[in-house]
Amino acid sequence: HHMLLGLLVLVLISGTKTPLQQFHGVRRFELERSCCFSALLLDEERGRLFVGAKNFLLSLSLDNIAKQEHKIYWPAPVDWREECNWAGKDITTDCVNYVKIVHHYNRTHLYACGTGAFHPTCAFVEVGNRMEDHVFRIDPSKVEDGKGKSPYDPRHPAASVLVGDELYAGVATDLMGRDFTIFRSLGRRPSIRTEQHDSRWLNEPKFVGSFWVPESENPDDDKIFFFFRETAVEAQGLGKSTYSRIGQLCRNDMGGQRSLVNKWTTFLKTRLICSVPGADGSDTYFDELRDVFLLQTRDRKNPLVYSVFSTSSSVFKGSAVCLYSMNDIRRAFLGPFAHKEGPNYQWVPFQGKVPYPRPGMCPSKTFGSFESTKGFPDDVIQFARHHPLMYNPVYPMNRRPIFVRTNVDYSFTQLAVDRVNAADGQYDVMFIGTDKGTVLKVINVPKESWNNMEELLLEELEVFKQQLYVGSHTGIAQVPLHRCSVYGKACAECCLARDPYCAWDGTSCTRYLPNTKRSERNTSTHTHTHTHTHRVAERKLFGVEGSSTFLECIPKSLQARVTWTFQKHPQSPREEVRLDDRLLQTDRGLLVRRVLKRDVGVYQCHAMEHGFTQTLLGITLEVVPSTSPSEPPVRPDPRSGGGPPSTNQKLWYRDFMQLVDHPNLSAVDQICEQVWARKNAGADPAEKSFPTAPKEAPPLGPVGRPANKKWKHLQEIRKGRNRRTHDGKPSPRAPRSAGE
Ligand SMILES: *[C@@H]1O[C@H](CO)[C@@H](O)[C@H](O)[C@H]1NC(C)=O
Ligand SMILES: *[C@@H]1O[C@H](CO)[C@@H](O)[C@H](O)[C@H]1NC(C)=O
Ligand SMILES: *[C@@H]1O[C@H](CO)[C@@H](O)[C@H](O)[C@H]1NC(C)=O
Repeated sequence: HHMLLGLLVLVLISGTKTPLQQFHGVRRFELERSCCFSALLLDEERGRLFVGAKNFLLSLSLDNIAKQEHKIYWPAPVDWREECNWAGKDITTDCVNYVKIVHHYNRTHLYACGTGAFHPTCAFVEVGNRMEDHVFRIDPSKVEDGKGKSPYDPRHPAASVLVGDELYAGVATDLMGRDFTIFRSLGRRPSIRTEQHDSRWLNEPKFVGSFWVPESENPDDDKIFFFFRETAVEAQGLGKSTYSRIGQLCRNDMGGQRSLVNKWTTFLKTRLICSVPGADGSDTYFDELRDVFLLQTRDRKNPLVYSVFSTSSSVFKGSAVCLYSMNDIRRAFLGPFAHKEGPNYQWVPFQGKVPYPRPGMCPSKTFGSFESTKGFPDDVIQFARHHPLMYNPVYPMNRRPIFVRTNVDYSFTQLAVDRVNAADGQYDVMFIGTDKGTVLKVINVPKESWNNMEELLLEELEVFKQQLYVGSHTGIAQVPLHRCSVYGKACAECCLARDPYCAWDGTSCTRYLPNTKRSERNTSTHTHTHTHTHRVAERKLFGVEGSSTFLECIPKSLQARVTWTFQKHPQSPREEVRLDDRLLQTDRGLLVRRVLKRDVGVYQCHAMEHGFTQTLLGITLEVVPSTSPSEPPVRPDPRSGGGPPSTNQKLWYRDFMQLVDHPNLSAVDQICEQVWARKNAGADPAEKSFPTAPKEAPPLGPVGRPANKKWKHLQEIRKGRNRRTHDGKPSPRAPRSAGE
């Protein structure tokens, strides 16, 4: 039952298992006689991680979860445990208090709920105003019934969100686990639930997530979304099928006046599709929604919806990540309602007249004149009651998953996503938990996908400030997201790792800090007022003698005419760059097809528009000498060397793939220096000019510098890679199979 982490360097070395705590800054926390650390709540202000576990509520330090813990022992009372045991449940595994729900309530209190030995209970937990207060206690007078908030059965999934002072929970509200509901409680407004015993509303649902998403600037339009999977009513007759769902409700729903009293009048749901085209032309569906992560964007109304799915089929085993947009979700809820005329009819899109206001719309000034759902006309309430299901499903962006794994002995279960500004652009890094107790770290490179696998026992994970916190059955782990040092001491390894958190800084693989961006943005706002004080963005670029490099400079205005100047030394005159067939100017910058020693110097890119010239960028080019001038270490690919750079910015990535297979490892280092140089310049579109090293023509010359250490590392990598391949596992590096 140890937490193990597969030692994974560059994705390729796996198999070696190392105790977690010994490994690159990973810390862990365990608690004797407890388990099941299934509810995590981050508190940035206090620097705490609150955790719900078996019989305990914990407060851990975000800096180091292994120290300074506070805990509240919160068992179920003895009489409840006995009652539970009489009902036939196991006294040690079932008849205890599993703390499943922890939310922020207000500035000084959390709200937490536990199963309480099949007697759900909730409590306000005092955490103090500030971190220094070190307050962490339950006020016994503020313990209350948790029915409709926490599940009875620790094995039952539940999802909830606390908004304002109201809790919205998707949960079973009875001991037998038959009456499932989406329930609003706490707060001043009346408690509201879904229609009972109506399979059109909810049909044996398994709730996986719940979120509050504003729809406009008016809070009256705010919606709560529930994600779940359930037995599909519309697929009855074809056997029992599970569909994944997204459900919506209005925050200001007060229920109906004569009908649907204290029930949702704005509840709608539809199917979430995540599928891949099968060999026979029909789609294969990943129908078991497992987890959802909302990645917030600058626009609170439009987060990105990342979801993980697995299959229920015994024939086809696989998991996938699908990405949805709020626009597509809203469009489905504005589409036709699913309608079934009677027991012997098919489900069809409703063709008749939909009453006004359209069910699913919140009563608000934005879309109408109703002040409360209690004022909705009867026909609206009746329609809503009989049409909770939409006809159109929600498809993922690009109509396909962004990451798929098939024929593996595990399923995806959890997901956290972190948006990273890396040296060569923005990446969404996915951390995918599996039922085998592993975490896959995956970045999604457009068209080609790449992943980095780490093995870790897990139940829930959260991302915060460059740390990943993983809750599991046996403990909690804290893993830095940017474990750049695992990529070794060589530039090649750092670059090959393609970890957007890391970059080669010239001596080691370190955390990449996108520092140039801010200053650039700031300077550009001042340019029109004071051109003289305008600070030009400066970059450094390394080119390898004899190979190509690209000095990127894209003017904001497409109308601007770009010119380049060159200055050999700070003292020498600045002159215009002379273009020839070795030095080409493209729309996006200056392409040096074959770098020479004399190219060293400072290049400036100027935009000219309406007679006004502005210097956009200064690039200091340094030339890394090739040891064999007669034979360049990497010959520019004749296919791409001539023309302007293509627009596929990730092309160079494929070159890496080739290099990894290439027997001549010394070349990797050379390539790496180039890519790093370009990464360092923050010039992603430049990457396309990267010279490929074609497999069929090993052009790689001798490398003079002693690189034994690096060689050794790379050989290790290869060994690891081979080991994986011999295990019969698909190589996690395979870019195509993983992504498509
Ligand atoms: C937070 O809520 C608790 C429980 O209702 C209450 O006792 C406390 O005074 C509240 N704190 C603030 C700052 O409102
Ligand atoms: C720009 O600089 C000013 C101070 O000079 C700072 O207050 C502001 O936040 C900066 N803006 C950005 C976008 O970095
Ligand atoms: C690798 O490069 C070395 C040095 O140029 C060369 O001697 C050797 O033949 C190359 N090996 C292969 C397999 O291409």
